[in-house]
Parts: sequence; structure tokens; C-alpha cells
Amino acid sequence: MARILVTSALPYINGVKHLGNLAGSMLPADVYARFMRLQGHEVLAICATDEHGAPAELAAAAVGQDVQTYCDEQHDIQQSIGDQFGLSWDYFGRTSSARNAEMTQRFAITLEKNGLIAEVVEQQIYSIDDGRFLPDRYVEGICPDCGFEKARGDQCDNCGRLLDPIELIEPYSTVSGSRNLQVRDTRHLQLRQTVIEERVRAWVDDSDGWPKFAKSIACKWLNEGLRDRTITRDLKWGVPVTKDGVLREGFEDKVFYVWFDAPIGYISATREWAESTGRDWECWWRTDKGAEDVRYVQFMGKDNVAFHTVSFPATLLGSEEPWKTVDALKAFNWLTWYGGKFSTSNKRGVFMDQALELLPADYWRWYLTAYGPENSDAQFTWDHFQISVNKDLADVLGNFVNRILKFGASRFDGVTPAGGKPGEAEAWLAREVETRLQAIASHYEAMEFRKAAAQTRALWAAGNEYLTKVEPWAHFRTDKDRAALGVRVGINLVRLCAIVAQPIIPEAAGKIFKALELKARHPWPRGTAAELLAALGPGHGFGPVEILFAKVEDDQISAWVERFGGAPEP
Ligand code: 2FM
Ligand code: ZN
Repeated sequence: MARILVTSALPYINGVKHLGNLAGSMLPADVYARFMRLQGHEVLAICATDEHGAPAELAAAAVGQDVQTYCDEQHDIQQSIGDQFGLSWDYFGRTSSARNAEMTQRFAITLEKNGLIAEVVEQQIYSIDDGRFLPDRYVEGICPDCGFEKARGDQCDNCGRLLDPIELIEPYSTVSGSRNLQVRDTRHLQLRQTVIEERVRAWVDDSDGWPKFAKSIACKWLNEGLRDRTITRDLKWGVPVTKDGVLREGFEDKVFYVWFDAPIGYISATREWAESTGRDWECWWRTDKGAEDVRYVQFMGKDNVAFHTVSFPATLLGSEEPWKTVDALKAFNWLTWYGGKFSTSNKRGVFMDQALELLPADYWRWYLTAYGPENSDAQFTWDHFQISVNKDLADVLGNFVNRILKFGASRFDGVTPAGGKPGEAEAWLAREVETRLQAIASHYEAMEFRKAAAQTRALWAAGNEYLTKVEPWAHFRTDKDRAALGVRVGINLVRLCAIVAQPIIPEAAGKIFKALELKARHPWPRGTAAELLAALGPGHGFGPVEILFAKVEDDQISAWVERFGGAPEP
């Protein structure tokens, strides 16, 4: 049994997340965590809301709330929606917690002692009309690299480049729209990434367990050469900058940059989990306290990779303390809305709360895993969604489970019959089961979620094919033993189909277990295919299954196209 730490990129507090956010970090992290738990591993799944910085301040201001109240409310909303989506976090924390402030301040002090933090005077954009500096998202303008017109001060959403606000062309304030701006001097702390560059590079070079996509993004950043990064901001909402236990002189009105304290939130949230459950946190995070045995896996969208492969490791390595660093980093591309962007600020696309108003979580979990943006961007369209879920969930899985349970209930009184000797069809099925189970497990191990889903569906499809081969309804009158065998093997296959479905569609799997009068959760199947197909012997009770997946109808799709739109704005 291994110990596996799973973190997913911390969702910003600024409103309910859209399906793209879910598909690119929180959902695959959950599917992976569930699979690993079923394998018998000890899994700790950690997430939190990312609450600091300009995004939070701006979102609170937009709804006229003070930022603390806004964050309190939004945290609870995101946690509740995550629960409804079946995201099985062990702990869902907040980066605005006292523990995260303390840890962030401690890291900064340690890094400064190690010569990795410098106090510098920087030029920043000051808005005369707003009477304040405009860090990060407080300023927008034209990207100096790709010419995108709404590049934010910290990053261009179009080309992904990290920006310094003063690099923007024709900048304007997002508070007031004012272009009455000046470049003024302001004092800040910089993380001297240039000093630690070679260590980060060696660490990335050593990381053979990472999927290729993340590694190539990390190498691209390193090849461009690291720059020292400012880790404080002229903002009110964030972790205060301290020294010797009091506010640092000259930094009384500044806070740490949100991207400095956010990944430290993974550690603080683990600590809070430990504090609230009476468990130990250091054995997950300190290699001198047992964490060298932990496998640490991170999930995130591609825009987050640089922060997780360069800045956060620079913090951890630069502390010269024995912190656990990531072993495998799984990065995702974008889920697009008809080829365009899902957008929180423009409310374009479907958001997690809205999705749950339309259909239960399992529909979305299946679609976003089986057709997610794994090796390239993936396009969400209503048509594709309808065709995919109807075929996979209703026609393939639902149909198989329903057919066999219904027939078995009516002809064999809801009790698995003994039946005759296994024949050719059963031998075929055993080979099928063996191949699929092995493939599903190895795809999950490799974090290849689309492939794992495709093999899961292939096992469900084998169920229908088996029934077509053995046709118990055709033999019931003439050869009852043969029909009985088909029913018993079929019901065992239903059980296996539900077991392998658990990581992606846990609720539907639970309904199947209930119909089979089994406990609500099952470990990953072990044993030969022949043994697995005989796990439920003669005399096991079962009943009809509740409808697993109703088909998504054309009129529902028309209503949703009407409500959400069906194409991106030009
Ligand atoms: O891009 C985002 O949504 C960020 N809030 C992710 C932060 S991940 C971690 F470092 F906290
Ligand atoms: Zn750009």
C-alpha cells in the first residue's frame, strides 16, 4: 500500500467555476484519488479556495461586498458544489486561513535568510484618478507579445505569457477605466529565481515520472531563462508582509503576491486537515518525517504549470528544508466552448452550479473525463455532449444493466441461478474482462484518463455483446440451464462494470451495487477473470435497478442552447 498525496490547482474564489476549470484539474484529481483508494492505497486529497489578490478584491467590489464576507460566502458555495459533484476531497481549505498566513510569512523569512529574497525599488503603474497602484488584474492593455487587446497585468490569457504590468501597451485601469496613469517607484520583495535557477533546472531534469506535457512546458520556461519575480503587491487583501514578528517597515500597505501564498496553501490545508482530524501532516510533506515514501501528484491546467514547476519549487528548494516536492504533475489543455473560451468574467459557458441544475453530476463527470482536454484542447458542444452521454451511458451501460437485471428478476425471481457449464461465450468474455481490467488500471496509473474511460466503456460494451451471444431469453424455454448461466455470468459482469465505473460515475455505480444487494463501495477487482465472473454464486439476490441514465432529449438540448448559447461570441 502506497501513500499518495493528490492536490488539484486551487480554484480562485472569484465565483463558481465553469466546466473547463472542473475538467482540467478538480475532476481528474478526484477520479485519480478514487481509483487509488479503490486500489487500497492511502490517499490524501487536498484542495482549497485561492482567496487572495486582485481577483478576489475585484470580484468582491463588483458585487458590493467587503472582501472577507465575499470570500466566506464563496468558499462555502464552492465547497458545497464540489460535494454535489462528488469531489471527494479529504480537506477543502482556504488560502486566507491564519495557518496559511503563518506558513507564507515563515517561508519568506527562511528564503530571505538564504539570500533568495531581495528588497528592490520597482516601477509600477499608478492610477492618478484611482489614487492607487494598479497591480496585476487592476490593469489591462495590449499584450506586447501577441497583440491581444485585453491582456491582464499579470498574464496574457491569449498567449499565456507572464507579464509585468508596465510591459502592457496602452494600459488602462480596470477599476475606473482611466488611462491617466503614471509609472511610479514602489518598494517590493523579489524572489531571486535567477540565483536558484540551476537547482530548479536539475530538479526538473531529475523528474522522470512527469507526463510529457507538463515537462515540456517546464523546460520551455527554463530554456527562456528565469527572471527574479516580485512576490509582494500594493494591495490590502492578502498575507501581510512581516519581519521579526511585526509588519515589515515600508510594507505596511502591501501583501504577498497571491501566487506566492497560493501553492503554500497545499501545505497549510494539509496541516489544517491534520489539526481537525488529529492526524499527522508532516509525514505527507517533510521528507525527514516520512514523506520520502509519499507519491505526490498535482493536477492543473496548462497555464498553471510554470508556477508549479518553477516558482513553487524555487520556494521549497530555496528554503533548504526537507520539503516534499511533486513526483508527477498532470497538466491539461483547455476545454473550449464551441472552440472559443469559457469565460468567468464574460459568463460564457456552463458553470458548475448551472450544470447540476440540468443533469446529475455523473453525466458531466463522464463526459468531461471521457472527452476531456487531455492531449489537446477539447471542444464542448451541446450536440457532442448529447450524442456522447446518450450512447455511452444510456445505450451501452444503462441498456446492458437494465436488460439483464430485468430479465433475471422476472424469470429467475431475483436470485442468481446456478446454470450449466461455461462454454465458448464465457471463455471469450473472460479474455475480454482480463484485457479490459488490465488496460483500465494501467491507464489510470499513467494518468491517461480518456483512455481509461474508453476501456471502461469497452467493458460495458462487452456486456451487451455477451448478451447478444448467449441470448438467455431465446433459450429460457428450451435450455433453462444455458439461460441460467447467461444470467448469472451477466449479473457478475454487471458487478464488474459497476466496480470499474466507480472512479468516474460513483453515483451510478452505487445504484447498481444497491440493485445487486451489495455494499456501496468495492475495491478494485483482483483474481482471474473466471473467478471474478463467478464472484456472485448461485442464490444471490438482486432487484431491478433505478433508471441509471435517462437519455438527453432534443427538446432539452434546444432549451439549453437557448439559455446558454451555442456558439462563442466573435
Ligand atoms: O489558475 C488558478 O485558478 C489558480 N487559482 C490556481 C492556483 S494553484 C495553487 F498554486 F494554488
Ligand atoms: Zn499575449
